[in-house]
Amino acid sequence: MPTQALATYAIHSDVAVITIDNPPVNAFSPPVIEALMTHLAAAQADSSVQAIVLIGAGKTFSAGADITEFLKYASGEKPFDDGLHRLIFAAEDSTKPVVAALRGSALGGAVELSVGCHYRIADSRTQLGLPEVKLGLIPGAMGTQRLPRLCGIAKAAELCATGRMCGAAEALEAGIIDRVTEEDLLPTAISFAQEMAATPNPLRKTRDMTDRLGEATENEAALKKLSQLVSQKARGQIAPQKAIEAVGLAATLPFTEAIERESEIFQELLLGDQSRALVHVFFGERAVAKIPNIAADTTSREIKSAAVVGAGTMGSGIALTYLAAGIPVVLKEVAAEQLQRGVETIRKQLTASVERGRITQAQAEQQLAALTPTLDYQDLSKADVIVEAVFEAMHLKQEVFAELDRVAKPSAILATNTSTLDVDQIASATRRPESVIGHHFFSPANIMRLLEVVRGSATSVEVIVTSMALAKRLSKVAVLVGNCFGFVGNRMFWPYQREAQFLLEEGASVEQVDRVLADFGMAMGPNAVMDLAGIDVGWRVDQERKDSLPEGLRQPLVSSKLYELNRYGQKTGAGWYRYEGRKALPDPAVQTLIESTAQAAGIERRTITDAEILERTLYALVNEGARILAEGIAERPVDIDITYVYGYGFPAWRGGPMMFADTAGLQKIYQRTCHYQEIHGPWWEPAPLLEELAKGDGKFADLAQRKR
Ligand code: 3HC
Ligand code: NAI
Repeated sequence: MPTQALATYAIHSDVAVITIDNPPVNAFSPPVIEALMTHLAAAQADSSVQAIVLIGAGKTFSAGADITEFLKYASGEKPFDDGLHRLIFAAEDSTKPVVAALRGSALGGAVELSVGCHYRIADSRTQLGLPEVKLGLIPGAMGTQRLPRLCGIAKAAELCATGRMCGAAEALEAGIIDRVTEEDLLPTAISFAQEMAATPNPLRKTRDMTDRLGEATENEAALKKLSQLVSQKARGQIAPQKAIEAVGLAATLPFTEAIERESEIFQELLLGDQSRALVHVFFGERAVAKIPNIAADTTSREIKSAAVVGAGTMGSGIALTYLAAGIPVVLKEVAAEQLQRGVETIRKQLTASVERGRITQAQAEQQLAALTPTLDYQDLSKADVIVEAVFEAMHLKQEVFAELDRVAKPSAILATNTSTLDVDQIASATRRPESVIGHHFFSPANIMRLLEVVRGSATSVEVIVTSMALAKRLSKVAVLVGNCFGFVGNRMFWPYQREAQFLLEEGASVEQVDRVLADFGMAMGPNAVMDLAGIDVGWRVDQERKDSLPEGLRQPLVSSKLYELNRYGQKTGAGWYRYEGRKALPDPAVQTLIESTAQAAGIERRTITDAEILERTLYALVNEGARILAEGIAERPVDIDITYVYGYGFPAWRGGPMMFADTAGLQKIYQRTCHYQEIHGPWWEPAPLLEELAKGDGKFADLAQRKR
């Protein structure tokens, strides 16, 4: 393909219009950069051209640097290429004014290119952002030096360190862009370029500006405050702090030295584990949507309406999710009191969203009007998808599905939100198991991004494809998984929590275990998670499961005692912790309970190191992940990684459990698993896949290559 196809050149009276044309997001791949350089040079040479407009084809300006190129640099496949630097200098050194015309989004390198142009105009709906930190990077095309020259050090540092998007109005106010338009962008940008070309000194170079760089003491104070904020919000991450450091250089170093330092930091980060992990998560989120072995042209069912059975914690959250996506919901409960409570929860959540400015009052009213509460199954007969969210008990789920089979229209998808139960057994209560599937939402369902889509043995491909597309409409990240106890997420979480409890019995404290895993980067420690999810919920799962557990193996002892004491966690004000409001406080009564339980069971208590806590919880998680992969419950390691990052608070900057394992080294994990097997017995039997990969010096990531 000729390079010119990636960017076009046209003359509109005396203005050259260069259009970036690299669908779907106009990313700056090396050939795009070359094409833009060629067109910029052509515009210099054309004496009829007075000014240049740089715009993106389609709906967007550009998503910045081509992230696939980063993988090549990081793996050593290609040397680092500073093509974007050359392009930006070519724009800035143009002898004719260059105007960047922004619409849709301008991200990362795209903002950096635009702030290297002499002027910027944006459609009023444009979103600008420097999301490099979300990839474990800092802006690496001089953005950390040009941005502060336009909007000041504090603002530039905030944008670069958080990756936050900002709208056109905010960017105008901050001085990042020069004009905002509601009119058709291209003609307005052309007129703007002509207007600027007619001014006395039109070649305004950002690199030469210094008047907005501000006072040293004020800048230092602002950067210190930002650094503290970021260390809380992006716990454990290197890039946000590096972004602050780089922006700070604008005040202390000349431009040319500062951009060299920026480039060094960028390249260091690019080769680091955190960036590798975050790029893995970026592409992983997109990869899980592409299901291997399903034809791209598989038809999907039309979903225009939904029903939810059960208006408890999950049912009300699921109903909110559908309403937010503009899909009307019929909500079914057993009795008026429960129904009323569910509707009230939904109403309160919508009011809270209005108060937080997430939706308007009119939107909230519209969503509430699209909710139809009912006590009658017959009212579910028109729904295209029905999601069951009643108590976690097989007999009840089967009763509900028999009813759904009776009333639902033939094309309806019948989904269960069960978190652990056998989807096939639930489907067997119907005469249409091909239409039955798991839609496992996470709590709070309207907030958490993960949706585990559980395929039963009879689930049709059409129902799977429809579910995956529906998840996207619901703004969820869907991962397709197989049917077994707890599917991918909860099945792996069980050994993780089991070890956490064993460690308590052996001598660790509740707070120590939670601190160590929070320091590792988990959103919360395992005990805090149990208190949030409900110790009663876990107890019910254990009751359903207890007959199928292998006999003679050690079981956690303390959580069931907490259940018997009505210590269900946050909902009862006490669980592993005691609560003042939502604040968790250590509870000496729990410590006493743990110690007496351990003594009664003859468990010797000792000092537990932080390292042992990490190994036993995380390696148990990884070992189960290896079994899940071998059984095909998860198709690819990335399916597990995305499940854990989006559903279980696993740190994205570690890439998910399987990438973490690859980074830590499978040989080490295998050896330590064998070591714990010697001490603790069969729970620690190494998964055959872990053993095979460790002995062959392999990685989980190799499995993806094998399947290609
Ligand atoms: N490079 C390469 N591919 C990209 C890309 C990029 N910057 N941005 C998106 N893509 C790809 C996606 O992987 C996806 O590919 P696929 O269809 O094969 O799965 C395709 O473009 C469409 O992307 P989405 O599915 O995400 O489309 P959406 O419309 O939902 O979102 C978006 C569009 C908001 C642009 C989103 O893709 C996004 O946030 N992209 C990342 C933007 C980013 O991080 N830019 C900074 C890059 S780093 C940089 O510029 C460094 C510089 O400082 C030197
Ligand atoms: P919950 O106890 O808050 O709500 C269950 C609701 O179902 C109750 O309001 C009850 O009245 C109603 N119900 C019972 N039988 C019914 C019937 N025949 N028709 C209509 N409604 C009926 O329970 P929760 O937490 O919402 O859990 C529901 C399901 O979601 C369970 O299968 C659970 O395993 C699963 N789940 C729960 C998560 C959580 O964190 N709570 C997370 C993910 C899944």
